[in-house]
Amino acid sequence: MVRVRTQVAIIGAGPAGMLLSHLLSLEGIESVVLETRSEEYVASRIRAGILEQSTVDLLRDLGLADRLEREGEEHHGIHLQWPHERRHLDFAELIGRSVWLYGQTEVQKDLVAARHRDGQEIHYEVSGTTLHDVETDHPWVEYVDAAGRPCRLDADVIAGCDGSFGPSRATVPDGVRRRWERSYPFSWLGVLADVAPSTDELIYARHPDGFALHSMRSREVSRFYLQVPNETDLADWPEDRIWEALATRLGHDRDGWTLATGPITEKSVLPMRSFVMSPMRHGRLFLAGDAAHIVPPTGAKGLNLAVADVALLAPALAALLGKNDATLADAYSATAQRRVWRCTHFSWWMTTMLHTDGDPFNHQLQVSQLDWITSSRAGAAGLAENYAGLPIGF
Ligand code: APR
Ligand code: PHB
Repeated sequence: MVRVRTQVAIIGAGPAGMLLSHLLSLEGIESVVLETRSEEYVASRIRAGILEQSTVDLLRDLGLADRLEREGEEHHGIHLQWPHERRHLDFAELIGRSVWLYGQTEVQKDLVAARHRDGQEIHYEVSGTTLHDVETDHPWVEYVDAAGRPCRLDADVIAGCDGSFGPSRATVPDGVRRRWERSYPFSWLGVLADVAPSTDELIYARHPDGFALHSMRSREVSRFYLQVPNETDLADWPEDRIWEALATRLGHDRDGWTLATGPITEKSVLPMRSFVMSPMRHGRLFLAGDAAHIVPPTGAKGLNLAVADVALLAPALAALLGKNDATLADAYSATAQRRVWRCTHFSWWMTTMLHTDGDPFNHQLQVSQLDWITSSRAGAAGLAENYAGLPIGF
């Protein structure tokens, strides 16, 4: 058995785990990161593309935003659309904040590069990760490393940053944890295409055939999503059908708007789920990111919420381990959950407002809601504040 000791054992090398290790090292706290997948796999997962203002501000403060500044693009708002209407919301004008278009995949690469520069210990391709003694001051993690050697990582604290399928969440005993869940009767078909975007800012479109989203990754690459039934088989969606559905749902009968098409380089089906678990701390185990909550992608909150969690968690662990002060650690779960529920509500609300379910009453409610949001300053500001993101610490 290989035995290693560190202050914080971080399970998962996604954005939550990587940013946490970075923030901890700035506080003088050492950590070891364990990850089941390979470095290449983690760096190439396609994710959403919108960063909230507070995420960008934090990355800038940490000196991690050089590439984001060069390659990302500030967006002042979004377009909301339904048949015969396309209306723009200007977040910058409404609330003085904006969002950035920068692939979350790129954020992951920037974080990994920064951790490598600092010599962070990250073990990829581990298996059999099991958490032990989290209710004591000496928790430890058992795993098998990439070379097949059984290992034991002793720590003062374990950070469960292992996403929606990791083992950390289940380590909190059944009698202690509460969970809230909502599944949706539809999924998203996500498409990446080598074509210049046909819009300056994102278009969220409600259409009788189903929701569609026109997003982008760069001046040359567009990203699209279509509402499809659950269990959709990709084989039923050849390129022609995808472009036809996008042109219909995103189509706009004013100003001669057309959708430019190009080669599709990637397509996949994404399930939609809302999930929250509480508490986000049990003894010496702290959960952050998708390990504790999952939002449907409408509104692109997943990564932003993971960033907000670890921005709270890092100073809490620094105070606990560096000064033996448990005040912030004791408050972590309740503090984090306030924002978690705000984002859970916002993602559910955006999803519910924009997706079709064939119910004529719901159709009228959705159109009325879209009309109000885009014609009342108060309605628009509410959406803008949630979309561009509340300050960290909300
Ligand atoms: N041992 C070690 N690592 C594990 C284990 C395990 N048993 N199980 C899962 N992991 C790893 C996963 O392989 C993954 O790389 O934990 C990582 C969790 O990363 P994410 O799923 O990206 O979750 P998180 O870091 O919380 O990021 C949250 O970012 O891009 C967005 O949409 C994404 O909402 C998500 C958000
Ligand atoms: C994306 O660009 O992938 C994206 C953007 C906004 C969303 C969801 C996904 O709400």
